[in-house]
Amino acid sequence: MKRILSGMQPTRQLHLGNYLGALKNWVDFQKDTDMQRLYCVVDLHAITMPYDREQLAQSTLEITAAYMAAGIDPEKSTLFVQSHIPEHSQLMWLLATMAQMGKLERMTQFKDKAGKNKERACLGLFAYPVLMAADILIYKATHVPVGEDQKQHLELTRDLAATFNTRYGVEFFPQPEPVIAGPAPRVMSLRDGTSKMSKSADSDMTRINLTDTPDIIAKKIKKAKTDSYPLPDNLKDLEGRLEALNLVTIYAALADISKEQVIKEFAGQQFGNFKPALIDVAIEHLAPITSRMNELLDDKTQIEQALHAGAAQAREIAAPVLADVQKIMGFIK
Ligand code: TYM
Repeated sequence: MKRILSGMQPTRQLHLGNYLGALKNWVDFQKDTDMQRLYCVVDLHAITMPYDREQLAQSTLEITAAYMAAGIDPEKSTLFVQSHIPEHSQLMWLLATMAQMGKLERMTQFKDKAGKNKERACLGLFAYPVLMAADILIYKATHVPVGEDQKQHLELTRDLAATFNTRYGVEFFPQPEPVIAGPAPRVMSLRDGTSKMSKSADSDMTRINLTDTPDIIAKKIKKAKTDSYPLPDNLKDLEGRLEALNLVTIYAALADISKEQVIKEFAGQQFGNFKPALIDVAIEHLAPITSRMNELLDDKTQIEQALHAGAAQAREIAAPVLADVQKIMGFIK
């Protein structure tokens, strides 16, 4: 049986990249009855960078609200908070004894986040991908739906699963498959087509947040960087026009149509025509999610119930897996 696991960090609000690159695909998986789905809020990952401790709990609830508002149904998927399941951290330590420093040093997310001051980066940031591997392997997950930026972390997870199996001579962990699907696995910044849309970019104008009001969405799209040419009549001619391609990709993903269809509809038109249409599609799609999120956050009972039940379900899977790992590794009971 397929088992899906994925997670997001409770740092700031979710943006369109998180939604189109990952969350929308998580929701689509719910159509398949022949699989088990686990979606978590990875709060232990969120503290690997400076964070506001007053904000952590609130962000954790907000991300859960975003999951539910986007269509994750706690009856169909297990929703939980990473730190509620101590087995993640316990397995992480065991995997840390198999993770090579050299491989961790090559992780681009670590290099980006540590920046110039690598010597001062904390061990938690360095070990981040090992905790992520533990998140996945503690459930023996078979599929991991993520955006393109997580591909390298998934490779490390597969590597650790294989190392464990080889070192202990077992066929214990499956090789989890990254699922980098959907029309927008890499949504770019609205201000710079060469960098990805991210929570950590300083300017809020670079991203559309799931909490943005229609006015703000309209303002951000109006100010989004473009070029001065009309939209072409074929996709190939969008090559090299990174900002234009990004907006076409976002339109296609939100409207659930192909990029070719978008191009067909807007061929020869200027951004003065295309942007208002994109604003309409974005608001039409996102406003219901935002208002549902606000409802869920006004009375947190549903969120809390989902997380409570989810933690019990997750632990039922995680605890025996950890016990098996400990036994395989030779610990006494
Ligand atoms: P995080 O919180 O940075 O992002 C959550 C998800 O959103 C995707 N994403 C994007 N997709 C398309 N375009 C973008 N601009 C964009 N920005 C972000 C990410 O690929 C991710 O799928 N390390 C993970 C969290 C994590 C995790 C896990 C994921 C921890 N443990 C176990 C899967 C399984 C992260 O930082 O995601």
